[in-house]
Amino acid sequence: IDNDFRFGRWPLCLYAEWKEVPYAEVSTRKKTFAEVQTERLDQAERTVLIKCPSKINEKKLLQYLSSHGNVKSHFFFENRGISALIEFSEKGSIASLQDAVGIPSASEHHVVPFKSRLFTFTLKNPGSQRIEETPLHLSPQCHIPVKDLIEKLCLADSISSQMYMLLNEYQLTEENIKLRFLACSLVRDFTCAYFPDSTVKPFGSSVNTFGKLGSDVDMFLDFRDTGKHATKMKKGPFEMEYQMKRLPSERLATQRILSVIGDCLDNFGPGCVNVQKILNARCPLVKFAHQPTGFQCDLSVSNSIAIRSSELLYIYGCLDSRVRALVFTIRCWARVHGLTNSAPGTWITNFSLTMMVMFFLQRRSPPIIPTLDQLKELAGKHSCFCGYCSLFNFFIILKTNFSLLLLMALVFFPLDVLLGEFFEYFGNFDFRKNSINLRKGKEVNKPESSPLYIWNPFEQDLNISKNVNQPQLEKFVAMARESAWILQKEDKTQQIMDKEPWGLAALLIPFGKSNSSKMKNRMKGIGSETIRSLLDSLKLNNANSQQKAVGK
Ligand code: CTP
Ligand code: MG
Repeated sequence: IDNDFRFGRWPLCLYAEWKEVPYAEVSTRKKTFAEVQTERLDQAERTVLIKCPSKINEKKLLQYLSSHGNVKSHFFFENRGISALIEFSEKGSIASLQDAVGIPSASEHHVVPFKSRLFTFTLKNPGSQRIEETPLHLSPQCHIPVKDLIEKLCLADSISSQMYMLLNEYQLTEENIKLRFLACSLVRDFTCAYFPDSTVKPFGSSVNTFGKLGSDVDMFLDFRDTGKHATKMKKGPFEMEYQMKRLPSERLATQRILSVIGDCLDNFGPGCVNVQKILNARCPLVKFAHQPTGFQCDLSVSNSIAIRSSELLYIYGCLDSRVRALVFTIRCWARVHGLTNSAPGTWITNFSLTMMVMFFLQRRSPPIIPTLDQLKELAGKHSCFCGYCSLFNFFIILKTNFSLLLLMALVFFPLDVLLGEFFEYFGNFDFRKNSINLRKGKEVNKPESSPLYIWNPFEQDLNISKNVNQPQLEKFVAMARESAWILQKEDKTQQIMDKEPWGLAALLIPFGKSNSSKMKNRMKGIGSETIRSLLDSLKLNNANSQQKAVGK
């Protein structure tokens, strides 16, 4: 862990690659984005969700389930009662379980004839059940409150370790990731009724390594596999009258598909509530709450630009552990100071903020991550890579082209330095003139007058932060400057002695509140100093003019 903290995971990977050190993290890091997705989706298809009584005998439940097949993994979590996620080794076990369970009788409930993968486990004689001595371990699905986080942070020994601590508390757990993929897979059970070859995959922060416990699940309906099939068919003499009507535009097709799926989820989707169809948005989507998993979900239709940016961020997130720790810190800081908000509006989004961190890491000297053009060049050198990031295995590149990357990796800068630099960089950024271009890794003249302009790396004429207005941008700059100031000036030893939050903890308290007295003092300090120097200059002027008058 120490090594990880000091050097980041990147050189550790290099070391492990060279010396073949058995390090679990390394093997997961080596997988491509597409490989991880496929593996997780396959896992989700072999998974069921079981609502359990509060007094559950874990062994008995597993014993019962094992009569249907081998249980590969499981965990319990709290969500409107206790639920268990059960991953079988074989998909066939689910059918066996489905055939063995009772269906509510039609006289009590008017059921829709659909066999779901959601079950309820009821005990015949709950009183007679012997409770296990070891209490059930419930996997947490949300992060600790900021107040508790701040208390924890104060126990750390450096700002860098505070940042890693925050990352550990907030990042998605293995269990939470499984649950996110399961939510997609359960939605797929529905979409398949209309589009048998469709898949539903997560994108955005659920998969880009920057997801926080409690964040929404962005999912998209994918027909790519069907597309491949259609291309194959063209070779023969037949042309299939494709599964749906020919429509005048892709957008209309997307809207129709989402409309039907939205209705389907609303009418028949077990536990899908508050279904909202937002079809006139730039990117049409269906919003709903998925009660069995507890997630708020946004379903859209395959959007290659959004998928590519998820993959790009995944690559950046895997490069160096400092990248994720810095992004989590900035995201948490922005939320605490009201710079971001879960509701849509004129504020900066987490996605834009993440891109700003990436840009800063490209711009600082020496850079921590390569620009998109550099990645493209590296990918081009390797014969198996086509396109930018698709099929991109960064770790193969690392082996063959590590000179540039090694150069970057060898010059280590601790996280707290990067944090301070981030605030300074954006506290002084010329937002009026410049825009943020991650492809070039350069500040370029703004092509239009939006207060904040961040080029979409995969669609050059799209500003990903078009929604941000001037007051929100100014608030961001003011907070960045204030934070840079706090990091530079504050005295850790004194703060610990005064039992005050220090380092990152001090940055996570709304400035008006905790630091109000200190800010006032600071203002007083600045004020009195300014007044003193004004008085001095007045005195000086006075003396000069008196001298001049005497001289006259
Ligand atoms: N996206 C995009 N352009 C935008 C907004 C979003 O391409 N202007 C894509 C990005 O790939 C983003 C994904 O859509 O990651 C999901 O958007 P959103 O949910 O807003 O961001 P997340 O990265 O998922 O962050 P959060 O944790 O706040 O949900
Ligand atoms: Mg999201």
